[in-house]
Amino acid sequence: MIFEKNILCIGAGYVGGPTMAMIAHKCRQYKIMVVDINADRIAQWNSDDIPIYEPGLDEIVKASRGINLFFSTKIEQGIKESDIIFVSVNTPTKTFGAGAGMAADLQYWEKTARQIREYAESDKIIVEKSTLPVKTALAMERILTSTDNGIHFDILSNPEFLAEGTAIKDLENPDRVLIGSQETPSGLRARDELVKIYAQWVPLEHIITSNIWSSELSKLVSNAFLAQRISSINSISALCEKTDADISEVARAVGMDSRLGNRFLNSSVGFGGSCFKKDILNLVYLCRNYGLDEVADYWEGVVAINDYQEERFVLKILNAMFNTLAGKKICLFGFAFKADTGDTRESPAIFISKRLIEERSELAITDPKALKNAMIDLNGLDGEIKYIEDPYEAAIGSDAIAVMTEWGVYKDIDYEKVFRSMAKPAFIFDGRNILDHKKLFEVGFNVFPIGKPALTHF
Ligand code: NAD
Ligand code: UGA
Repeated sequence: MIFEKNILCIGAGYVGGPTMAMIAHKCRQYKIMVVDINADRIAQWNSDDIPIYEPGLDEIVKASRGINLFFSTKIEQGIKESDIIFVSVNTPTKTFGAGAGMAADLQYWEKTARQIREYAESDKIIVEKSTLPVKTALAMERILTSTDNGIHFDILSNPEFLAEGTAIKDLENPDRVLIGSQETPSGLRARDELVKIYAQWVPLEHIITSNIWSSELSKLVSNAFLAQRISSINSISALCEKTDADISEVARAVGMDSRLGNRFLNSSVGFGGSCFKKDILNLVYLCRNYGLDEVADYWEGVVAINDYQEERFVLKILNAMFNTLAGKKICLFGFAFKADTGDTRESPAIFISKRLIEERSELAITDPKALKNAMIDLNGLDGEIKYIEDPYEAAIGSDAIAVMTEWGVYKDIDYEKVFRSMAKPAFIFDGRNILDHKKLFEVGFNVFPIGKPALTHF
């Protein structure tokens, strides 16, 4: 088959895989190749058991794979054959040297720029899909144009806003697609090429364009605002616990103001995920670099409140259970950083598990999709940890259940049966406020929600 365009994506992760699967699904006229240095990951993308759990993803991958969607490790060939290259490699927080613990680690990103320069034989459009510090496109441009081989590159910023667990829905029907470009004639032509791809399924009024720096910055700011809302509501949950106010009632009242809106106001054990913390720290680092310490302090507070909320949850368990957890068995319901994903990156459950082990409790962890990752995250911890898929079995003999992830299955559990199998007094700490607290109290549990009065039998 002759394709209209060859599209390459470097990085077959949570973003590269699903976004390219969606383009392939919507645009049969384009050939999409997704490459990665991780051969195992590519093998999984080519297998029956694809490496990411995301509702709806399996179907669209399998419907396009081998037709116009290909997964491969042949990076050089991919670069040579492509007209448009999306770069979707990881940009984690730097763990060494200047900016350690704050700045984005751009080594993977820079390596791809150098690979593109080395192998490209024709003009190309390079699309930043990864989340990057503002002005990264400038560095990319300098690397790509540092040898005079006559090849022209246009660099675009097209940050990804999908959330895990709803990636396919978000990609199919995005609130917005943002494309930033240089305002030169060739930059604008490249921008229009990318608009043309998205316009195959996204209404034009949802495709917005801007200058390239605004686009890079908008991504960091979007995540910072979302995380800020969670830290705002979580900070108030602490005050509710002191005053007998109820965080759900407060969130409902606040959220009904149409200027504020009611989404992202669920108080929780804290936000996790691979991006919120890293992107805010990246923003903080940028601000400090530009001498904007007050602005940096303001955003750093969002991360500080999240850390506080996680630690507060551990202390709540400790205090409620008579100030000792040594030898007690605590069953964690959920380990993923949110429901409908097997991803555990930066999951509050990791920190909380480590703290509970420090307090010498024994853990039984259950999760419908994330047990494999949980085992990797907690590998080497010096304590007793069991990983059990069935929540009923996991809870047997426990002193307490702590809900870490808002999986729907935990709402539908027969808690009378669970209560009967547990040690007494039995405790439930609902870190997501998803359970029917009154009912659990009637069953016999001592119930500790977030930001609401506890219901205890003492
Ligand atoms: P990921 O770690 O799942 O995937 C990145 C992939 O890039 C890995 O498989 C890695 O092997 C590969 N890679 C690294 N260097 C490479 C190279 N030189 N050549 C080929 N492959 C290489 O990361 P992710 O979650 O997909 O995130 C990618 C980017 O997208 C990050 O900047 C992230 O901030 C951003 N983002 C992520 C999400 C999300 O929900 N996970 C959402 C929006 C934006
Ligand atoms: C987030 C953003 O929502 C995406 O737009 C963005 O593209 C992505 O980060 C990214 O850049 O990686 P994601 O991390 O997948 O997506 O998931 P969210 O739904 O945003 O949830 C993040 C965390 O906040 C989860 O731990 C979730 O449980 C928590 N959360 C969310 C709350 O505690 N309360 C809420 O009301 C909402």
